[in-house]
Amino acid sequence: MLQELKGRDFLSLKDFSKEEIKEMIDLAVELKGYHKQGVRKEMLAGKTLAMIFQKSSTRTRVSFEAGMYQLGGLAHFLSTQDLQIGRGEPISDTARVLSRYVDGILIRTFDQQEVEQLAQYADIPVINGLTDLYHPTQALADMLTIYEHKNQLEGIKLAYIGDGNNVVHSLMVAGAKLGMEVRVATPVGYEPQKEIVEMAQGFAQENGGKIILFNDPEAAIQGVDVLYTDVWASMGQEEETEIRKKHFQGYQINAKMLELADKKAIVMHCLPAHRGEEITHEVMEGPQSVIFDEAENRLHAHKAILAALL
Ligand code: CP
Ligand code: NVA
Repeated sequence: MLQELKGRDFLSLKDFSKEEIKEMIDLAVELKGYHKQGVRKEMLAGKTLAMIFQKSSTRTRVSFEAGMYQLGGLAHFLSTQDLQIGRGEPISDTARVLSRYVDGILIRTFDQQEVEQLAQYADIPVINGLTDLYHPTQALADMLTIYEHKNQLEGIKLAYIGDGNNVVHSLMVAGAKLGMEVRVATPVGYEPQKEIVEMAQGFAQENGGKIILFNDPEAAIQGVDVLYTDVWASMGQEEETEIRKKHFQGYQINAKMLELADKKAIVMHCLPAHRGEEITHEVMEGPQSVIFDEAENRLHAHKAILAALL
């Protein structure tokens, strides 16, 4: 089965079956185990990954870079400010040139179409390291984290409170495929994209999951196993920061909100976080927070993606 993932692109989790996503989670668990025991598995010896970044990154950049090295390969960090892309060289040309040098390309950019164009012209796997639409590598690490803390994915109830953005789009797709109940509470006008909600509802139906939208965060949180949030203004939305702070009042994960969830609920955030906005310092640092385990799991999940695809 893993063999069927070789050479594939990782643009959105919608392109992977439930079984394939589970395989990647299992591989991440295995690679995490080796890493903890200090066993090196040089599965990508001699292979290289080009990483194109048009937006800032701490976790995605460092975990992919470290992950390639730990698997015996090498990663090149390429900022679009330094690449010829920044001076107007087309993505289609960049894709064909890089394909002749390296074994895979990771890209973080604004428009999902750019990632798709890169994949269309590259003859090596392309990995989406975040666009305005999706953040699939994050969602895979999140599923690994939930699995580790809850011992299951099917039937898990997750409430995402906040902006209907890239992170929740990928969470809905992954959760639906894995048979989870994903509840999304946003202010009116900040709902996730309709087409993605409907697509995820279709996946949920096939896999025994549910996708439910709310505008009332308290109603969404009742009894959930996982509480998830993300920034109110994503990269590229800096100008809307102040107006969003007003519109998102009441959508903060704080101690009072946490009380409405299951007693054993875990709290997640993809990071970076704005303490005092979408989440309080108290909850972030509290006993139910698994936020730093989640950040760690980016490394292990990314290594699984690389080992499977490259
Ligand atoms: N969560 C996440 O993708 O973090 P970075 O922006 O630091 O990569
Ligand atoms: N939604 C956030 C996620 C950052 C990892 C953003 O796009 O900025």
